[in-house]
Amino acid sequence: MSKKATLEINGNKYEFPIIEGTENELGIDIKTLRGATDGITTIDPGYKNTGSCQSAITFLDGEKGILRYRGYSIEELAEKADFLEVCYLLIFGELPTAEQLEKFDKDIKEESQVDEDMKKILDGFPKSAHPMGVLSSLTSALIAFNPGSVDVDSEEEMYGAIVKILAKFPVLAAWTMRKRKSLPLDYGDNSLGYVENLHKMMFAKPNQAYEANKIVNDALDKLLILHADHEQNCSTSTVRIVGSSHAGLFASLSAGISALWGPLHGGANQAVIEMLEAIKADGGDTAKYIAKAKDKNDPFRLMGFGHRVYKNFDPRAKIIKKSAEEVLGDLGIEDPVLDIAKGLAEVALKDEYFVQRKLYPNVDFYSGIIYRALGIPTEMFTVMFALGRLPGWIAQWREMRLRKEPIGRPRQIYIGENYRKFKAISER
Ligand code: CMC
Repeated sequence: MSKKATLEINGNKYEFPIIEGTENELGIDIKTLRGATDGITTIDPGYKNTGSCQSAITFLDGEKGILRYRGYSIEELAEKADFLEVCYLLIFGELPTAEQLEKFDKDIKEESQVDEDMKKILDGFPKSAHPMGVLSSLTSALIAFNPGSVDVDSEEEMYGAIVKILAKFPVLAAWTMRKRKSLPLDYGDNSLGYVENLHKMMFAKPNQAYEANKIVNDALDKLLILHADHEQNCSTSTVRIVGSSHAGLFASLSAGISALWGPLHGGANQAVIEMLEAIKADGGDTAKYIAKAKDKNDPFRLMGFGHRVYKNFDPRAKIIKKSAEEVLGDLGIEDPVLDIAKGLAEVALKDEYFVQRKLYPNVDFYSGIIYRALGIPTEMFTVMFALGRLPGWIAQWREMRLRKEPIGRPRQIYIGENYRKFKAISER
């Protein structure tokens, strides 16, 4: 029998169907609420209790610490798949066959040129500009050079826009870093794999043959996979809501990049390393910073801790912590901030404040330590997150368009002034 929810308002009863997901999650379908109740709405700041869509892409159980892309566990994908396979899986729903993967790779490579005039736009930014702002602007600027990728309705047109952005985004991301480092811009090498090529585009020296490093490549690949999707988070919801106006894929992604930039979201990876560095410079007193994080009169928060959905270990953080230890070991790097991070986590995980609120290390807590070991500058960390999240944003945007979702337009409860008569300036 189908499940129903009954709502009683001032003695009147209203029934709403309950939707059940494939993992038995229940959601009250309130689509008819306003019509049935003569305009009553719901209020849920931060959407803590609101499902914005039905999605078949990513399953997340925050209580049990489970994360799956299209049904496959994050642990298995991080271990056995490569990033391009995961891109295909997220966007099109199935792991690719060898032929499908080869075609996907070839189609992406064919689009890996960026219009030379894009360099003029990059040129206009000061060197000190934050790479996330530059990346968001360049992604938006791409629209002008690829106007055919805006108004895409058919699956075929979407495919064209998708391979274009998968190809050009790493070029732009690498350019934002090269500009800061005063290195000539690089177009990469299409004979390399997707992730190797990204690394080459970021680090190749103009007077030196590029040498790939398997440890570095594998570590990057894994990090990109771990960041590839996370259902309806802030940036993904942004991408879906911008896309719901049919603004186009690149415009939606540009907005998503801006949403990711904030320190409560993807920007936390940069904030974590800055926090760990500050603790180190202050003598490494972790207890002092745990106390600050608990003090309600102190705005300090333990960056890289806590999550809206995970009330248990973030499975990504578990994998990244292990990977950080391995990568640093393999590369022969000792980084004192890894010890500070481990010390902080150890204390916090036993502390009543964190235990009660179910605050655990999240994906951003250890990732920066690996990025640093790979020679990636701190201000590029969130760009690395964006590179990983790109297929997730694309998959969610594509799903939203294929399901023909309506334009995103929440309601509000107005709490401002009632009608007032206009006052002439002399009377105010
Ligand atoms: N340090 C200290 N206290 C915290 C922290 C923290 N990092 N996170 C949450 N709390 C406390 C918070 O003060 C509140 O306490 P109380 O109930 O006494 O008022 C309680 O825990 C619940 O927190 P909240 O802010 O209501 O939870 P939220 O779901 O709105 O926010 C969050 C989630 C991730 C924004 C938050 O935990 C946070 O600011 N963490 C630090 C920033 C961070 O690491 N962000 C990355 C998130 S994961 C990757 C991503 O999304 O990109």
